[in-house]
Amino acid sequence: MVRISTLVGLGLVAAVSAHPGHDVKAEAAERAAALKGIRARGVNHCATQLNARGLEANNIARREQTLQKLRKARGLDGPLLKARDLSPLNETHHSDLAVDPTTDPSELFASGGSCVLAEDVTQGPYYVSGELIRDDLTEGQQGIDLYLDIQLIDSNTCEPLPDVYLDFWHSNATGVYSGVIAEGNGDSSDLSNLDSTFGRGLQRTDSLGVTAFHTLFPGHYIGRTPHIHVLSHPGGTKVNEENNTITGLYSTTSSYVGQLYFDQDLISAVRAVEPYDSNTVELTLNADDWILRQELDDDVDPIVEYVLLGESVEDGIFAWVSVVADSSVSKDVTPAAFLTEDGGVANENAWPGGGPGGLPSGFPTGVPPS
Ligand SMILES: *[C@@H]1O[C@H](CO)[C@@H](O)[C@H](O)[C@H]1NC(C)=O
Ligand SMILES: *[C@@H]1O[C@H](CO)[C@@H](O)[C@H](O)[C@H]1NC(C)=O
Ligand SMILES: *[C@@H]1O[C@H](CO)[C@@H](O)[C@H](O)[C@H]1NC(C)=O
Repeated sequence: MVRISTLVGLGLVAAVSAHPGHDVKAEAAERAAALKGIRARGVNHCATQLNARGLEANNIARREQTLQKLRKARGLDGPLLKARDLSPLNETHHSDLAVDPTTDPSELFASGGSCVLAEDVTQGPYYVSGELIRDDLTEGQQGIDLYLDIQLIDSNTCEPLPDVYLDFWHSNATGVYSGVIAEGNGDSSDLSNLDSTFGRGLQRTDSLGVTAFHTLFPGHYIGRTPHIHVLSHPGGTKVNEENNTITGLYSTTSSYVGQLYFDQDLISAVRAVEPYDSNTVELTLNADDWILRQELDDDVDPIVEYVLLGESVEDGIFAWVSVVADSSVSKDVTPAAFLTEDGGVANENAWPGGGPGGLPSGFPTGVPPS
């Protein structure tokens, strides 16, 4: 039982139909139930308070600075391209905001998307506990660079949540998760994937509840649109300095889990680029993703805001999002596997085949690797 008090929002589950026996619709229904009552606590209701405290101004300045730095490092000074607009399911919804280097940063970098972490019984079949604390999850794989800036907000107080470890995991450019051997997850006869860690890692939020990481834009797999899972660990989690992991991972609890999503046009642009274009699995559109549809609501929009670093998607993407979580709850989660000093260890008590995304209460939630 990993205690992750997660905070992130969105979440959900993943994978779902990648697994025989895993029912995306059932999972979507569970997600809907978990979101009930929390929805109203999306970031919008906090906007006035956050503005008054100057946090939004700080966000805009930080995001602008990060973008400049990323562009400079890559020698990019041409036009910027595109931020999404706010109709999450529309397939063609690039913003009509004419974004260029002179665009008013307060217009471009305003907080927009927000994901709500809900208490979640469905962290999905691909969560691995024990991953490394690090801000770069790329591990030299091929794919489009994605830099993500995340602010974590407490739904109870509308204040940023500092000192919280957020755990991220997502599939690689060709739709495979590291650390898990399962039918539907790449080549399940390749047992070496149990020891791999790409696309996984934790980062701690700073005093303004902000954290950032560099990864590769996720690919897709059967039944799901590209997404990134987020889970929050309890505040004040201790670090094992010797191997850069957090302690207590094998006996912890998760409170909140969620998923981050992307603009459909952005996904389509990425899909056309190598190696994403080599994925023979049919792409599920946002509009057809049952779990995403459960998330969307007037006050919840888990699709990240973004700009391209240069003129094409291959130059990389800078994205930002607010994540809202209720810091007062925590629950057990069931990892598919544990990362240990001896590599990956599958969790024998994880549900077979990825499971229904929710276990009956009293079901064992994982056994520490011995
Ligand atoms: C999508 O965008 C088009 C063009 O702007 C618009 O006509 C349509 O109503 C939008 N659909 C949704 C679901 O927002
Ligand atoms: C994704 O991971 C799988 C399993 O390790 C690997 O076979 C595949 O080449 C990876 N895709 C990319 C683009 O690196
Ligand atoms: C980190 O150290 C802890 C405590 O010794 C150990 O249980 C865990 O397996 C280690 N994790 C890794 C990835 O080395």
